[in-house]
Amino acid sequence: MSRTPLPYSQVLLDHFRNPRNLGPFEGADVVAKAGSPACGDMITFYLKVADGAVERLTFESYGCAANIGTASYLTELVAGHPLEEAWKVSWKRLSDDLGGLPKVKFHCGILAVGALQRAIREYYRARGEAPAWIPAELTEEEKNAQEEEELAGSLEHKLHK
Ligand code: FES
Repeated sequence: MSRTPLPYSQVLLDHFRNPRNLGPFEGADVVAKAGSPACGDMITFYLKVADGAVERLTFESYGCAANIGTASYLTELVAGHPLEEAWKVSWKRLSDDLGGLPKVKFHCGILAVGALQRAIREYYRARGEAPAWIPAELTEEEKNAQEEEELAGSLEHKLHK
């Protein structure tokens, strides 16, 4: 049975086929692993910070083309930028920059953004710091980039519904 390919832009396809900043590296300050309750796919970000800015950000994704493409683009977009700016990149911005994600793939971009926010939150939490621009409550994106145990729980819940 043939399936109609999803309408991905050339720029997204390029990031999917040639992902930038792929794989772990020694000396990361934070390793944040998160999964999407929508599809069960996982992503990991490796983050190194210098002077409050992203010194190095790499990723591994077990997700789809949209997730790999948005994560790859995100690593390039925030490289060298202050963590506050990286925190504020929305999945909508990623989608727009990448020519628009198909609706059924919104959650894949949300997973990339939420996992990066989790990494940034964890960076400050581990240092006992709480910048004013990080809300006390998890963002919607963070909630949609669940930690492994939470993800296992929510997928099990779905299975038994
Ligand atoms: Fe799971 Fe895209 S379908 S990340």
